[in-house]
Amino acid sequence: MTLLHRVLYPEPMLSLDEYLARGGGKGVTAARAMDPLAIIDRVAASGLRGRGGAGFPTGRKWQTVAENRSPVAPSTVIVNAAEGEPGTFKDRSILRRNPYLVVEGAIIAALAVGADLAIVATKQSFGGEVDRLRDAMEEMEDAGLNEGVGLAVFEGPDEYLYGEESALLESVDGRWPFPRVVPTFRRGVYAGADPDVPEGPALVNNTETLANIPRILIRGPEWFRGVGTEASPGTIVCTVTGYTRQHGVGEVRMGTPLGEVIEAIGGGPRPGRSVKAVMSGVATGVITADRLDTPVSYEGLAAIGSGLGSAGFIVLDDSVDMAAVAAGVARFLAVESCGQCSPCKLDGATLATALATVATSEARDHDYGVIRKRLATVADRSRCFLATQQQVSVGSIVERFADEIEAHVRGGADPVEPELIAELVDIRGGRAILDERHRAKQLDWSFNERDSGTVPVERYQKVAPPWLR
Ligand SMILES: Cc1cc2nc3c(=O)[nH]c(=O)nc-3n(C[C@H](O)[C@H](O)[C@H](O)COP(=O)(O)O)c2cc1C
Ligand code: SF4
Repeated sequence: MTLLHRVLYPEPMLSLDEYLARGGGKGVTAARAMDPLAIIDRVAASGLRGRGGAGFPTGRKWQTVAENRSPVAPSTVIVNAAEGEPGTFKDRSILRRNPYLVVEGAIIAALAVGADLAIVATKQSFGGEVDRLRDAMEEMEDAGLNEGVGLAVFEGPDEYLYGEESALLESVDGRWPFPRVVPTFRRGVYAGADPDVPEGPALVNNTETLANIPRILIRGPEWFRGVGTEASPGTIVCTVTGYTRQHGVGEVRMGTPLGEVIEAIGGGPRPGRSVKAVMSGVATGVITADRLDTPVSYEGLAAIGSGLGSAGFIVLDDSVDMAAVAAGVARFLAVESCGQCSPCKLDGATLATALATVATSEARDHDYGVIRKRLATVADRSRCFLATQQQVSVGSIVERFADEIEAHVRGGADPVEPELIAELVDIRGGRAILDERHRAKQLDWSFNERDSGTVPVERYQKVAPPWLR
């Protein structure tokens, strides 16, 4: 299977001159000659769906933001470059190789929805990508490519929740990443505007989503639909990590069988091993080995009780204990929960503890009962999707690998430590580097020896975010 290079370039694009010489910049030129509604129509006709995880139709989102323009406050485009989903490294890979493409997509989005500012919201710790972006923006400004659209980079915190779109806006506005109730197309960011004027709407799109935009404008919706499936047109940039021969990122046609993606990017399972399960990040149901022929598409993975998420495939082989995986996922999500919704934080924490007890073979029937009960309630009254992720991803492992979980409870399995599930720091020399610091992160988001017993929203609401000082 050949990998494609529509948005993930094989080599880094080193200058704006090189980008323009290879056809870059034509998307903005085309957009400037079009009516904003015609731009939105073209994106809608392409069938592009958001690559940040939910797969929401991009054209429809742009239309909603355009319709919600405020008569007094400016609209803003926010590029979600927070990339924190465990097992995912595609946005950083795209930015490292071609930041011009993403910024060009953001400028076109701003022209379409009537925004006068585009902010790329990345992380302070993504130093290399931040430098690449700043340099690219400076070159594009010097060349006048962004006329009428201000460009900025925001360096946010490492918290997983920062990637949730309304938490992202909170962070850009100088607060902690705690999700809001009001949708982003109603309340965006101040971003230096008049503080007495309510915020105008924000269009939040994922990095990969926007990287697709320039070519859709130049080559048209039919070209975009030339690969992929009817419901999931185009390509998808996949990350493969876990128990495979190698780790990496590659762009494939939507609809490619999952097993082929694992083979092409990850080199397949390690010698003498076989795939037991695959997780698409920690937002969807676990995929069992008998489903490796499933097409990598929104509808294909949903049909087997999973989902595409952000196409970060964590491959687990027959040496892995699924109780350890369930405990690792539950811990990651419980720690990263902000605590605005009690069931998400408290049931999540109970689940993490109970599953760790299962993995270390200290659990009894009672703990198994607790796990089932808390899985049923953890997503109650939740403000954002993180709580549902806990319910769906952990619930699916407990259900689909019930034999392995029960073996621990009945004393028939060796004790194991929870698997580390955490953000990727980098992929170097074909190996993924996980954020080892997460092992020490407490439920209150501190790295203190002991957790304070408070939840992040209580602990930090009145404290100025340290990354802004
Ligand atoms: C807990 C959580 C973390 C998220 N992290 C990211 C992220 O790192 N990057 C991203 O693009 N979207 C992330 N999302 C999804 C965003 O909220 C949002 O759906 C996305 O930025 C929309 O862009 P799209 O329509 O182009 O996909 C996250 C969602 C949740 C609930
Ligand atoms: S669902 Fe969880 S992470 Fe989301 S706002 Fe509520 S407590 Fe915070």
